[in-house]
Amino acid sequence: MSNKIIIGSDHGGFRLKSDIITHLKNNGYEVDDLGCYTTESCDYPVIAKAVAEKVLTNSGRGILVCGTGIGVSITANRYDGIRASHCTDTFTARMTRMHNDSNILCLGERITGAGLALDIVDIWLNTEFEGGRHQKRIDMI
Ligand code: RB5
Repeated sequence: MSNKIIIGSDHGGFRLKSDIITHLKNNGYEVDDLGCYTTESCDYPVIAKAVAEKVLTNSGRGILVCGTGIGVSITANRYDGIRASHCTDTFTARMTRMHNDSNILCLGERITGAGLALDIVDIWLNTEFEGGRHQKRIDMI
């Protein structure tokens, strides 16, 4: 699995995204930041689409942040082959990798504090997909 993480946020997720980027770089990941680059108001679908498309092109992994994590997850999940998971706890972060082979993690800056969010990121990045019956179910989506 590539150590490159494709990441994006709107203004509502910009600060948490910045914390995540620092954390990822400190842990040896390469980060491809598709914006936004300031806290000026912008539109989450634009960023979520860019991240989803690049995850599909690269068969990679992405992280999306907005105020709630919901707008970016709704947008990313419109793409066939994207399994974007909005997580607010470590249990769902682990399970969505094991059972759903999640390829985009969605977080809400206004929902989840940075400490918990970084734990969620670490667990999501380091948990393997179980395959087997779960692959069969993914093929049914
Ligand atoms: C922006 O105000 C906010 O609507 C956005 O960040 C996100 O929470 C949408 O779902």
